Amino acid sequence: MKKVRKAVFPLAGHGTRFLPMTKASPKEMLPIIDKPVVQYVVEEAVESGIQQIVMVTGRGKRAIEDHFDISYELEDVLRKKNKLALLSELQRISSLSEITYIRQKEALGLGHAVLCSEMVVGSEPFAVALGDEILYGPRSGLAQLLEAFNQLQAPVIGLQRVPRSEVSHYGIVDGTPVRDGLFRVERLVEKPDVPDAPSDYAIIGRYVLTPDLFDILKTQKPGVGGEIQLTDALNTLARHRPVYAMEIQGDRFDTGDKMGFLKATVHFALNREDLGEEFRHFLEGILGPHQLNPDKDTPGESVYATR
Ligand code: G1P
Repeated sequence: MKKVRKAVFPLAGHGTRFLPMTKASPKEMLPIIDKPVVQYVVEEAVESGIQQIVMVTGRGKRAIEDHFDISYELEDVLRKKNKLALLSELQRISSLSEITYIRQKEALGLGHAVLCSEMVVGSEPFAVALGDEILYGPRSGLAQLLEAFNQLQAPVIGLQRVPRSEVSHYGIVDGTPVRDGLFRVERLVEKPDVPDAPSDYAIIGRYVLTPDLFDILKTQKPGVGGEIQLTDALNTLARHRPVYAMEIQGDRFDTGDKMGFLKATVHFALNREDLGEEFRHFLEGILGPHQLNPDKDTPGESVYATR
């Protein structure tokens, strides 16, 4: 089978979980410290050897294109001010990857977004990465899936276990174990009710897929939420050919969710050389044992002042 060179980033979602912030700004441009979420995902794809990224965007997502484009004015200002480190960082971002943009005119679902990429992907296998999920670990998440794809020569879906109570937020896998962390897919269910979930293995936002999926997507009927679901099309694909699902090692942050965003911010801040130490002290100040002076222990006093 051909080598996986392209990754599709479906980015047309409305970001309703993060309103009102996402009314006029794409959720993928939310900053984790000083870098937009989608840049973390692009860097993961590039690190795993992807050569072309196909971004499927929609209305209100222009900031994403500007972010990965050259900004002559800004570069000129930085050059004149001798801010060369920042200048080279901006130049690095605009040359990270070849990026092609496609507009999904209506947000009809993740499956429909992937179908919009067909003209650019063509008849090659391709990766899919959701632009608001960051993976963090010793090895790029997509690289783990690509390695499995190269061995199995079949579609591979990225998984992580989730608490049972959360299964209805995800596509859930019913699979036969092949080896540790690898399953052959028997059935996929998009956002099941808790009692109906076949397992606690959830589809996370990384896939390596084959182009025969496009024909299935063309006739895929809307599923949960009235949307054309990628999960439903993959479920059909699994009836025609072996499809695998593999547990991805590493931490996952769903930054389209408020709690996921907060966790990502704290995690990346603590791991940053320039910010980590001071931020850790700050957090310890809030969370550590309070050394309250009994004389001043008045209700409502700020916890920040207790250490
Ligand atoms: C999508 C997929 C779902 C998957 C999830 C991962 O759902 O449809 O199968 O588990 O991403 O984040 P969404 O979160 O876009 O509703």
